[in-house]
Amino acid sequence: MSLILDGKIVAQSVYGRMAEEIAALPIRPKLSVVLVGEDPASQTYVKSKAARCEQLGLQSETVRLPATVLENELYAVLETLNEDVSVHGILVQLPLPAHLSKYDVARRISAMKDVDGLHPENAGLLSQGRPRFAPCTPAGVVEMLDFYKIPVDGRHAVVIGRSEIVGKPAAQLLLQRNATVTICHSRTQSIENVAALADILVVAMGKPQAVDRNWVKPGATVIDVGIHRVAGKLVGDVHTESVQEVASAVSPVPGGVGPMTIAMLMQNVVRAAGLQYPRSN
Ligand code: GUN
Repeated sequence: MSLILDGKIVAQSVYGRMAEEIAALPIRPKLSVVLVGEDPASQTYVKSKAARCEQLGLQSETVRLPATVLENELYAVLETLNEDVSVHGILVQLPLPAHLSKYDVARRISAMKDVDGLHPENAGLLSQGRPRFAPCTPAGVVEMLDFYKIPVDGRHAVVIGRSEIVGKPAAQLLLQRNATVTICHSRTQSIENVAALADILVVAMGKPQAVDRNWVKPGATVIDVGIHRVAGKLVGDVHTESVQEVASAVSPVPGGVGPMTIAMLMQNVVRAAGLQYPRSN
């Protein structure tokens, strides 16, 4: 049986650490979330973010826009938030309707308020190994590894998935911690065999329970970034029971990476406020 990496416990420890930082700030950090359309999962995520802000004593607002909003109308909203000194962090919830480009939208958010870490300047800083705002989900993965003291330096980390928001930044963060990093994706040949070389396997492939024990080296740590609703039940990209037979540690779904994503977002909001407060005094 393997160790279960409990994201709720790790997130609580992050919140404990943040409480002092928040108390020391001369301002109350504020997060503005922009929600375009009515995607049910996005609505749930946005509500959880607002609730967590409230619990931590941070300010938050949700700007709701119709799915039909024009590109220029969305940019105007972002410009207003960029200029508003009372707003420290801005996040545009993804996915966006097809007529809007997440890349163009990310560029319209002030890089200093981009708590999702998706602005090219922040992605560039991360790739140089000097992150300002790392994307929240991969930052949460690394925070979990730290909390459970799982060695990364010199180990082989395999990341399955190459998205801008998870796979690529996860690889950068692991590289920064001196892992030897391999990125796999939908075109990788013999993907199971590559995965089975990993000491640390980060799975963000978007396929329910696709990774079973055959993909995992005995003793490896497996982090499951997937989330799917299958027959009314939440599952990840990893077949947890199967993988538990060989791995030394596995993060569950739900209760693994999920709580970490919000914790890292809150950390980025507090950091954003710290970087900006001289301006808002
Ligand atoms: N949708 C799912 N995860 C995320 C995230 O981390 N950031 C944003 N903006 N949208 C998301």
